[in-house]
Amino acid sequence: MTNPISTRRHGDVLIIESNNPPVNALSAAVRQGLVEAIEQAEADEGVKAVVIACEGQTFFAGADITEFGKPPIMPWLPQVVDRIEDCTKPVVAAIHGTALGGGLEVALGCHYRVAVPTAKLGTPEVKLGLLPGAGGTQRLPRVAGVEKALQMCATGTPIGAKEASEAGLVDRLVEGDLLPHAVAFAEEVRDIRPLPKSSERQDRVDGVDPAVFDEFRKANARKFRNFDAPEANIRAVQVATQKPYSEGVTEERKLFMELMGGTQAKAQQYFFFAERKAAKIDDIPEDTKPRDIRKVGVIGAGTMGGGISMNFLSAGIPVTIVEMGQEALDRGTGVIRKNYEASAAKGRFTGEQVEKAMGLLSPTLDFDALADCDLVIEAVYENMDVKKEVFGRLDKIAKPGAILASNTSYLNVNEIAASTSRPQDVLGMHFFSPANVMKLLEVVRGEKTAPDVLLTAMQLGKKIRKVPVVAGVCHGFIGNRMLMPRQVEAMKLLLEGATPAQVDKVHVDFGMPMGPFQMADLAGVDIGWHRDPNRIESLRDALCAIERWGQKKGAGFYDYDDKRRPSPSPVVQDIIEKFAAERGVERRTISDQEIVERTIYPMVNEGAKILEEGMAQRASDVDVVWVYGYGWPVYKGGPMFWADNIEGLTKIVAGLKQQEARMKPDFSFSRLLLDKAQKGEKFTR
Ligand code: 3HC
Repeated sequence: MTNPISTRRHGDVLIIESNNPPVNALSAAVRQGLVEAIEQAEADEGVKAVVIACEGQTFFAGADITEFGKPPIMPWLPQVVDRIEDCTKPVVAAIHGTALGGGLEVALGCHYRVAVPTAKLGTPEVKLGLLPGAGGTQRLPRVAGVEKALQMCATGTPIGAKEASEAGLVDRLVEGDLLPHAVAFAEEVRDIRPLPKSSERQDRVDGVDPAVFDEFRKANARKFRNFDAPEANIRAVQVATQKPYSEGVTEERKLFMELMGGTQAKAQQYFFFAERKAAKIDDIPEDTKPRDIRKVGVIGAGTMGGGISMNFLSAGIPVTIVEMGQEALDRGTGVIRKNYEASAAKGRFTGEQVEKAMGLLSPTLDFDALADCDLVIEAVYENMDVKKEVFGRLDKIAKPGAILASNTSYLNVNEIAASTSRPQDVLGMHFFSPANVMKLLEVVRGEKTAPDVLLTAMQLGKKIRKVPVVAGVCHGFIGNRMLMPRQVEAMKLLLEGATPAQVDKVHVDFGMPMGPFQMADLAGVDIGWHRDPNRIESLRDALCAIERWGQKKGAGFYDYDDKRRPSPSPVVQDIIEKFAAERGVERRTISDQEIVERTIYPMVNEGAKILEEGMAQRASDVDVVWVYGYGWPVYKGGPMFWADNIEGLTKIVAGLKQQEARMKPDFSFSRLLLDKAQKGEKFTR
């Protein structure tokens, strides 16, 4: 193993530099190298001060997550950090990129921190179901203050170098070349004694009002609901205000080990890699080059078209947006501006950025204006004939090599592609509503989609800060396809005796942001409805016929007051009971367990079918779709991880068998699910 740590002298300063691409994770070799280098600095009388820096894109971005769950290799990170702090000569951290997790803990072990203004400092362990476990929960509040430490540790959101400097976490911000500045700083402080040690500071943790912690808990209760790690982080930081450092780190270690042993941390760490894997396309030639996308066209200035456009505008890519009528175009453009201004009011954009983004937008009624776009995304009415017509027209005017994408959420992308003379340039880019906010992007690969077209869409997805996932052509792709069996069974359960509130509660208790009926009311019960009030073939038709279209009408599966607070609806209950009577459905008491077995287990079954048919590249992609597109709780990893590791495939198959008769003819078993359960195998790795 080559040593990723090198040392060199600059005058009487020893520069310790790490070169462990891509993110300078603190692997065993890095930890060993750091300790040896500190020992070298101490042993060499000529060395008066030390700088720790990193080559490449970033300062240490944390512990090496790939080592988690494996037998520990010495030295442990806490020992390394202590060793740095105990160095008898001043140690300066030179920070660029992202000093995250264990990386920030190393910086806190140093006596001083120098950073470039673009650097970010953070403790994202909570997002991996953990807490900073190398003294971070005890040192950070001592250096940056309790409120900042609480915020950083419990939410995992990093802060910029300027904010860190204001909090006292960074001693000096330097413009330009970091290393010479850090060396100069080390020269300045070389003779200052005693050395400032983070672990010995008490001024920022003494006399802290204990109410701070409960207020913080209360303010974040919704965000932290059901998660283990945020509370453990809060408790650890609180200990720093109650106990001496040596006891604090013992407590920190105990909490860290508890988290590490739990399923939430396993799920969240699995998900970290799942998300990164999703960006990879398994079967395209390695030398595939993406196409150049300098200008994007969007057809349709409705809610979807507008939201989609914003993603590109925010990323600095010009957008031509086309509508059929002036009024719709003005309305669409107005909504985009309003959304930007609302974000600016919340401090997410400056006024200047809003104007810059709006300046990149060219609204037009002229379809031919799309002729110079490198990518055109169609976001019109979800109807095959309409889409084919649009693609036929587009085919005639788009420049050669332009990528033509449909934002369809269900329709057959191959059929859409066939309405053009260039199916190799066509694919689906399925954004989720609101498209400027939701992170998920399903990139639908048609049977003729060219590898470079697919690669371009995936890379562009990342560039506009989405989480792109490849899906195959099937009804509803990955996400909506799995939603369907859930909705079908949820509806049937109402007729059999459950209430919308009961079904929704089971889902919310499970960890979903809302249940199937809350979601229907929010999205619009009338989405995809045939619009004939006399044709009543389902419960949904009955609600739509009396304009119970959801929140927008103040009535859907629930009644809503003027503040959009839901309450159970006697009208809906009446309709349900009448419907059940007409259909001869016997009503009975439905258990919460049955709701899980009939609405969540079938999703796993559908996910298995998706994998069986090759409609998703890997099980973890299914999980990424559900976490980012539908709010599946990340501490349960995603439906396939949950099925494998929390619920268990045998239990799921047994539950589905138990319910099979009631679910037929809407349900059929996935062969793959039965096989895996029988062989004791898993979907996820
Ligand atoms: N350990 C191991 N591998 C890591 C890693 C880590 N801490 N962080 C990133 N990687 C890997 C990724 O898996 C990816 O691998 P791949 O190329 O094979 O897919 C590669 O590095 C590049 O990562 P990204 O694609 O995420 O690169 P970006 O440039 O988009 O982002 C980053 C860089 C902001 C540093 C981001 O990778 C990140 O947030 N990393 C995780 C940081 C983190 O959580 N640190 C805390 C670790 S836990 C800890 O420190 C415990 C301690 O308190 C005891």
